[in-house]
Amino acid sequence: MPILTGHARLAGIIGWPVEHSRSPRLHGFWLERHGIDGAYVPLAIRPEDFSPAVRGLRAAGFAGANVTAPHKRAAFALCDNVDAGAARVGAVNTLMFREGRIEGRNTDGWGFLANLRAHGVDPAAGPALILGAGGAARAIAGALLDTGIAVTIANRTPEHAEALAHDLPGLRVLPWERRSGALADHALVVNATSLGMQGHPPVQLDLTRAGPGLAVADIVYVPLETPLLAAATAHGLRTVEGLGMLLYQAVPGFRAWFGVEPQVDEALRRFVAADLLQG
Ligand code: ATR
Repeated sequence: MPILTGHARLAGIIGWPVEHSRSPRLHGFWLERHGIDGAYVPLAIRPEDFSPAVRGLRAAGFAGANVTAPHKRAAFALCDNVDAGAARVGAVNTLMFREGRIEGRNTDGWGFLANLRAHGVDPAAGPALILGAGGAARAIAGALLDTGIAVTIANRTPEHAEALAHDLPGLRVLPWERRSGALADHALVVNATSLGMQGHPPVQLDLTRAGPGLAVADIVYVPLETPLLAAATAHGLRTVEGLGMLLYQAVPGFRAWFGVEPQVDEALRRFVAADLLQG
């Protein structure tokens, strides 16, 4: 454990609960790698305490914080200004305290695209199909639409898909039952549902309907190789695992708080993955 000086830069992750978060491990790895005089701590904060706690962190000299469930919308409402990604999603996952102001960003969409590229998949290669309509699907759909491609979502509850399409002009909606039949028309399919996560059933998708160029991405990272990704590999399709999105979404915050551009690489991936395997 490095000894902090009086000049140490401070950041952390605000959640309720927060003990499941891998962000302290992830940022801790980078802090150690770069020998930074700083700390990144878990901050368990109840919903009713969120606003005073954030103002308190700012007053205490924190450089900023990540925000996770259930606070992302409250964080959005609290910010003095937000970036385009956060405005579109209505949720903030990264706070930066600058000259007394609270700035908010949503880096999930950017992290998703960066992870695709790291896996050799060009996000703009062709039409994308997203399964799901929750917060993650919203961020991913927005980021993919920004690349100029056609984006379609399919979700079990059609009203949730319609609500998303209402907020994101250009987004198309496909009935959930037609997701497999649509694969041949897409370059990328993304599972942005919670299906496939440990303790949940796998997502049902008939990959025999896919063209050979289809890339299959999952946002689920417990397990690292979801049943969907395993099936895609068995069909000879390119895959993009979900852990990378978690790693990349952390980059903009770390850079802003600690002043160093951190790298997402195999050593980091292994370090975070080792913790996932332990449960
Ligand atoms: P997040 O904000 O992290 O994306 P969420 O808002 O809970 O999480 O979204 C979960 C997504 O998984 C939703 O799209 C949900 O579909 P509904 O909108 O119909 O609830 C989807 N999902 C969860 N369980 C599912 C299941 N058994 N079958 C199909 N979709 C499921």
